[in-house]
Amino acid sequence: MNGHASPGTIISFQGVTKQYEGDAAVLKNVSFEIERGKFYTLLGPSGCGKTTILRLIAGFTVPTKGEIYFDGKLINHVPANKRQVNTVFQDYALFPHLNVFENIAFGLRIKKLKQAEIKEKVLEALRFVNLAGYENREINEMSGGQRQRVAIARAIVNRPEIILLDEPLSALDLKLRTEMQVELRELQRRLGITFIFVTHDQEEALAMSDEIFVLNEGKIQQSGTPTDIYDEPINRFVADFIGESNIVDGRMTADFLVAFAGKSFTCVDQGLQPNEPVDIVIRPEDLEITRPGEGKLEVRVETQLFRGVHYEIQCADEAGNRWLVHSTRKAEVGEAIGLTFDPEAIHVMRLNETEEEFDKRLEAYI
Ligand SMILES: Nc1ncnc2c1ncn2[C@@H]1O[C@H](COP(=O)(O)OP(=O)(O)O)[C@@H](O)[C@H]1O
Ligand SMILES: [Mg+2]
Repeated sequence: MNGHASPGTIISFQGVTKQYEGDAAVLKNVSFEIERGKFYTLLGPSGCGKTTILRLIAGFTVPTKGEIYFDGKLINHVPANKRQVNTVFQDYALFPHLNVFENIAFGLRIKKLKQAEIKEKVLEALRFVNLAGYENREINEMSGGQRQRVAIARAIVNRPEIILLDEPLSALDLKLRTEMQVELRELQRRLGITFIFVTHDQEEALAMSDEIFVLNEGKIQQSGTPTDIYDEPINRFVADFIGESNIVDGRMTADFLVAFAGKSFTCVDQGLQPNEPVDIVIRPEDLEITRPGEGKLEVRVETQLFRGVHYEIQCADEAGNRWLVHSTRKAEVGEAIGLTFDPEAIHVMRLNETEEEFDKRLEAYI
């Protein structure tokens, strides 16, 4: 049986639903394809189903409905130890009574590899994670970041086809976390193994991924490259979750004309129903401050924070909408200013549009 997959596809979910006994479904009819050799991120708030997707891929649980394919072969009921998949868990799950070498060698010993081969593979895996020379250390002598690397070495030592990483960086402090993001990304490129990485941190997802799947309430909201998703969020949830956004209610007056905040604006969108209600997103960095009376919107400054590179200015227009502005210009609290923006900065989002319809609509513009 073939999963109708394109040639580069390694994992394919088709209409996968997962429901635990007596509970509502935690994954609802989820379909996606994972291509070999890329870095994927599952991004979404806590409880949206990210870990459940990893557990289904790893074979720790089975779908209630739908099919999972690996290399075009149905694997719904293939046991975890028969899948070419390894997992790096959030708490690393290292064996505290074994040293670094034996932690990494564990799976190889179960497979009954020869000692010389085990040694060669373990030392190579340690070199890959920049821990050459640490093989005889005890786990409790290693720092958080080093333990993280041991867990990764253990996952790559078997050269699986896919590595699943479930929020592996969330226990690290910010500086180490940023370093590990770069390291993991480089490691994935050098190994060429498919990585499926889970995080609830949008900046991490944007920085690391080839492809991001944004999840909410058991459904994939949007999938695409970091720039696709950042530049063209499909709906209010994605716009709000990825980066900071101004989101207001609007109405499409006609092709290339949209109304919000009590005014009409030229936009780049077309093909919607006349007077169709829409959500409007404008990114804070796309708003520019003008002198009062010279902007497209007239606002009053409510708060201002200096963020090191830019000012974060919160304003309100006469219709009562709040606008967040990132600007290198300073403004005074209480000051009346104008805001201007390009037609391209207005993102028009139809309510309840599917990803397919959304993609089609975007393609029509280009
Ligand atoms: N074994 C289980 N039994 C019942 N409910 C579960 C089980 N595992 C997870 N869930 C529920 O499924 C939902 C999704 O969980 P999970 O996939 O762990 O989310 P995430 O990793 O995105 O935080 C949550 O509401 C969680 O409580
Ligand atoms: Mg989880």
